[in-house]
Amino acid sequence: MLVTRTARLVIDDSEVSIELPIYSPSIGQDVIDVRPLTAEGIFTYDPGFVSTAACESSITFIDGDRGILMHRGYPIEQLARHSSYVELCYLLLFGELPNSSQYTEFDARVRNHTLVHAQIANFFQGFRRDAHPMAILCGVVGGLSAFYHDHTDNSDPEDRLISAVRLVAKMPTIAAMSYKYALGQPFRPPRNDLKYAENFLYMMFSTPCESYEVNPVYSKALERILMLHADHEQNASTSTVRLAGSTGANPFACISAGIAALWGPAHGGANEAVLNMLDEIGDDSEENIQRFIDRAKDRNDPFRLMGFGHRVYNSFDPRARVMKETCDEVLAELGKADDPKLRIAKRLEQIALEDEYFVQRKLYPNVDFYSGIILRAMGIPTNMFTVIFAVSRTIGWIAHWNEMVAGGLKIGRPRQLYSGEKRRDYPAR
Ligand code: ACO
Repeated sequence: MLVTRTARLVIDDSEVSIELPIYSPSIGQDVIDVRPLTAEGIFTYDPGFVSTAACESSITFIDGDRGILMHRGYPIEQLARHSSYVELCYLLLFGELPNSSQYTEFDARVRNHTLVHAQIANFFQGFRRDAHPMAILCGVVGGLSAFYHDHTDNSDPEDRLISAVRLVAKMPTIAAMSYKYALGQPFRPPRNDLKYAENFLYMMFSTPCESYEVNPVYSKALERILMLHADHEQNASTSTVRLAGSTGANPFACISAGIAALWGPAHGGANEAVLNMLDEIGDDSEENIQRFIDRAKDRNDPFRLMGFGHRVYNSFDPRARVMKETCDEVLAELGKADDPKLRIAKRLEQIALEDEYFVQRKLYPNVDFYSGIILRAMGIPTNMFTVIFAVSRTIGWIAHWNEMVAGGLKIGRPRQLYSGEKRRDYPAR
């Protein structure tokens, strides 16, 4: 890392003055190295990691003020238009776009690993039929560590690649199984002649009783959704995967931890929460919509407009821009542009983009606002939305895990500002 400048921290009431190196990234904000503070008996305090770079990474770059997202240097808008999900997986994992033979080999490798061990089907029988598919996903993906422990030497790059490919390939299969289990329909084995998104739709919607043709409008839209959610640098779930992985834990268990973090409504659960919110709003009359906008602005009401706001983007989320286009295309092609729920969504978007409260706080629609609407139009049940996000984000998680492990492990161990009791003696009784 290039040290370009230094910062000096002077502690007011003492003689202590500490020099801190400042690193310059290839692009983006400079970073002060605060590690010398520990030797002086001082920690930094940053709840929510608002100002803390927890690692060095070369996978994804975000400029929240200018609405920029790039993977390995390529802008997300270009990738979404010209690449494919499997090619993006290769790029995130290896750092470069594949040439045609590298692509063919990688694609074949992913297709070759789509099946899950037959005993995993038994695993599902332990869950209640009304379980949330994210609960099932967490459990089953964690359970993969009990099935695929033949290549988990984290120090071996080939073992790490095998785990990465297994995860990317098996996630749609497990996600579709969790959907079929809730419906009480038989699991559908993957069809390796189909492309990634097509195969996922096939496993979700086909049945043994009739032939099923994948709708190209759906597979194109799903491919876009998968690409736009593939990675987003050090977000909560990726940081969870890194923290779990920093202990040397099994990669499947680490990804299961990431799935748990993603499930929360402030993170990946937001796409499901958007649709639940639209259902809660119910009636698309102007007064009713305004009532919910007023509730979102009321400090004494915990209600928030789901799908609005982002920790990192202070201007439009670049993924949301592409997703909005896809949303309009899909709705037009499916003839659903006038769905009442979608009318509410469009009106909410319009009001929020003009209302002083949202403008001042830079609360724009995020990627989940539009992805929820597309998935709904495709007939995908609401509780599968976050599952689809997890399928997509698996490559981001495993690419970050791989980068971290390859760079040498240092266990993640945050410190704290203790505010509990001082020492006291156990009372004599
Ligand atoms: N609706 C109404 N007000 C909001 C919203 C919202 N969706 N989001 C933020 N605000 C307000 C807050 O009340 C706060 O107002 P104040 O300054 O008057 O107190 C201000 O905007 C700043 O909000 P914070 O919570 O401090 O912002 P933070 O960066 O911590 O949170 C978050 C970001 C969690 C995404 C938040 O905007 C939110 O809860 N959004 C809704 C959930 C959502 O869509 N999550 C998806 C994120 S994208 C993803 O994970 C792929």
